[in-house]
Amino acid sequence: MIFSKIIGVGSFLPKKVLTNRELEKTLDTTDEWITSRTGIKERHIVEPNELTSDLAFEAAKNAINQANIGANKIDLIIVATTTPDKIFPSVACNVQKKLGIKNCPAFDIQAVCSGFIYALSVADNFIKTNSATNVLIVGADSMSRITDYSDRSNSILWGDGAGAVILSASNKQGILSTHIHADGQHEELLHVPTTNIKDNTQQTIEMNGSQVFKIAVNTLDQIVDEALIANNLKKEDIDWLVPHQANIRILEATAKKLEMSMEKVIVTIDRHGNTSAASIPLALDDGIKSHKIKEGHLLLMEAFGGGFTWGSALVRL
Ligand code: COA
Repeated sequence: MIFSKIIGVGSFLPKKVLTNRELEKTLDTTDEWITSRTGIKERHIVEPNELTSDLAFEAAKNAINQANIGANKIDLIIVATTTPDKIFPSVACNVQKKLGIKNCPAFDIQAVCSGFIYALSVADNFIKTNSATNVLIVGADSMSRITDYSDRSNSILWGDGAGAVILSASNKQGILSTHIHADGQHEELLHVPTTNIKDNTQQTIEMNGSQVFKIAVNTLDQIVDEALIANNLKKEDIDWLVPHQANIRILEATAKKLEMSMEKVIVTIDRHGNTSAASIPLALDDGIKSHKIKEGHLLLMEAFGGGFTWGSALVRL
């Protein structure tokens, strides 16, 4: 039996930081409101000439170094992103070019904030069916590119960044399970309305925050149960919750469902905001670098996002 295991983790954040205090200058909002309603204090933002593939490339290099394998050993590249450099080619192809890797398949996955879980699920299945051995998975987004900074209802949430893992074939079980889901019924609650880029129509995020909040909390409750039941595990078996960072109150609700103290939740939302597909691998890297997450620990990763899409991964590091 072939299993897949994470052998390297890396991340990258653009240098520029946008604080709540700076947002106060241009929006009818306050640091106090943003902090208490979302948990966010600041987020990183790309420069005009900085592309999603630049962030993804830096995160990928860090993961490859940490895995201690040559880039030429990678035989599949998957990038989860909603903010590609161009409509085509894919960010994955641009990352492949920047890494100097030739002749391996490379493609993007678009599942918005659940993109990293989707990519992990696809890569796990490639490995388990012996179709790939070393997969580079990147979650990368430049959400500031699709944010309307005059709309206080959601511009305060988003940030930019990238996180990457190397998932490799192993005789040890690293990925215990993945579960991915979608329901396209509520498209209008969270979307970028553009249908034709030839028209000068809106290309920024529109969101009904309170509706999304309610559906996210209920759905995340269900996926926690689904992951535990599928693996015959108990809540207390989980060492760390490594969640998509959407809102501190959503994280607290999931921790409560798991009867888990917030001490066991990796929280980066205060410093990163919601970086969409990048947020889980960024949180994973943060948890490892801060010596919280250690080899052998059992991690529950979960995400909910536009589509709606949602999913979980149970991972033994
Ligand atoms: N600053 C100050 N006031 C604001 C504000 C801001 N940035 N944004 C909204 N408000 C106001 C609203 O106008 C409203 O005022 P009113 O009561 O006078 O009408 C009030 O705050 C409450 O608005 P509401 O939208 O109900 O706030 P909320 O508690 O739901 O928080 C979000 C808003 C966006 C932070 C929250 O709904 C959220 O995080 N939703 C989930 C978003 C998400 O996770 N999306 C991505 C999924 S991956």
